[in-house]
Amino acid sequence: MRIDVVTLFPEFMAQSAALGVVGRAAERGLLELHGWNPRDYAEGNYRRVDDRPFGGGPGMVMLIEPLRACLAAAKAADPAPAPVIYLSPQGRPLTQAKVRELAALPRMILLCGRYEGIDERFLEAEVTEEISLGDYVLSGGELGAAVIVDAVTRLQDGALGDAESAAQDSFEGPQGLLDCPHYSHPAQHEWGTVPDVLRSGNHAAIARWRRQQSLLRTALRRPDLLDEGQLSKADRLLLEQARQALAKDPTP
Ligand SMILES: C[S@@+](CC[C@H](N)C(=O)[O-])C[C@H]1O[C@@H](n2cnc3c(N)ncnc32)[C@H](O)[C@@H]1O
Repeated sequence: MRIDVVTLFPEFMAQSAALGVVGRAAERGLLELHGWNPRDYAEGNYRRVDDRPFGGGPGMVMLIEPLRACLAAAKAADPAPAPVIYLSPQGRPLTQAKVRELAALPRMILLCGRYEGIDERFLEAEVTEEISLGDYVLSGGELGAAVIVDAVTRLQDGALGDAESAAQDSFEGPQGLLDCPHYSHPAQHEWGTVPDVLRSGNHAAIARWRRQQSLLRTALRRPDLLDEGQLSKADRLLLEQARQALAKDPTP
């Protein structure tokens, strides 16, 4: 997958993409990441990329022309068509379903704003869609772009060491449940004991326990994600049993 990022801070993107899963994916050729700086396309001695807003008020607005030339260069760098995605608090909040959709694309262009944002005429003319990280305001779109780069890269075939690990994560699978709890050594610790079933070697019982924990966690922590009417009979039974057990013994 190829991702082009239009940003005043391409070095931020390069650094954040050099580590861990994303860094390894880039080394293996699963991800091609390119930064494009609108300042390189600005005219004049000062290479100005922003100016005061019409109507007055605080802050600066990113200018159309440097962005236009920069985006044109990014688009022309590869023949594959690419949606232009503007990171914006006014966009649709990012979800794992959206991440899956984006991960299937051959290419995308991420546009990062700064200051008060970007001249609205540029957004209307060039942007395919706006994506938000959540209902809060960041100083720039780069963190959002880094989030998208990370989330889509780990879904590329071969990006993760264990191909199963993405499939079992939160929000994956048909019901989009939260992941179950995980434990490692030691089995006994002053902060608790690993559930017996995980040490039983009984794979069917372990799978059932994990499913039950996912159902219970989702019901308790994110009831908005759980459509209980859509659950199978077996899942409804597991959830009911987990709720009864919790009612009897509420200690975690
Ligand atoms: C200070 S913000 C501008 C906010 C804008 N004045 C508003 O209230 O909608 C500067 C840039 O940060 C990015 N940004 C801020 N919050 C974001 C969020 N929640 N999700 C994605 N990008 C965000 C956008 O690219 C935005 O252009």
